[in-house]
Amino acid sequence: MISSVYDSTIIELPKIHNIAGNITAIDNADKMVPFDVSRIYYLYDIPGGESRGAHAHKELQQLIIAASGSFDITLDDGKTKRTFNLSRPYLGLYMPSGLWRELDNFSSGAICLVLASHCYSEQDYIRDYGDFKVFREKL
Ligand code: TYD
Repeated sequence: MISSVYDSTIIELPKIHNIAGNITAIDNADKMVPFDVSRIYYLYDIPGGESRGAHAHKELQQLIIAASGSFDITLDDGKTKRTFNLSRPYLGLYMPSGLWRELDNFSSGAICLVLASHCYSEQDYIRDYGDFKVFREKL
């Protein structure tokens, strides 16, 4: 499938309310996430004014959650850009493969939790925007 920024959606995750603090659980069996999760990683201690991302993935699909704090994610399919603000730990942004992404405007103490469809592979990255445009034109 050729992904566009409109294939990216916010998924509302279940929230177990508790006066002592809430819980959100994500389970492959529940099919809440549109892929099987192979890897989880998280970004933290992000200095003020820093930006992350600036790459695309050929195959990797991801669900990104602001586990703490907030940040913006701008997606780009080579034609259209779309920016999402994430600020709730029960909302995840589903990102199909093949989109350029940039993350910025991190709040102090923000934690960017990422559920990924594959294990880490540098071969899956496109880190040059010109290469990304060529990749999109070949799709
Ligand atoms: P990268 O994905 O480029 O960071 P970001 O999108 O957050 O700006 O990864 C930064 C570095 O960390 C890069 O050298 C690869 C390494 N890395 C791993 O070794 N394993 C991982 O699972 C990830 C996500 C990154």
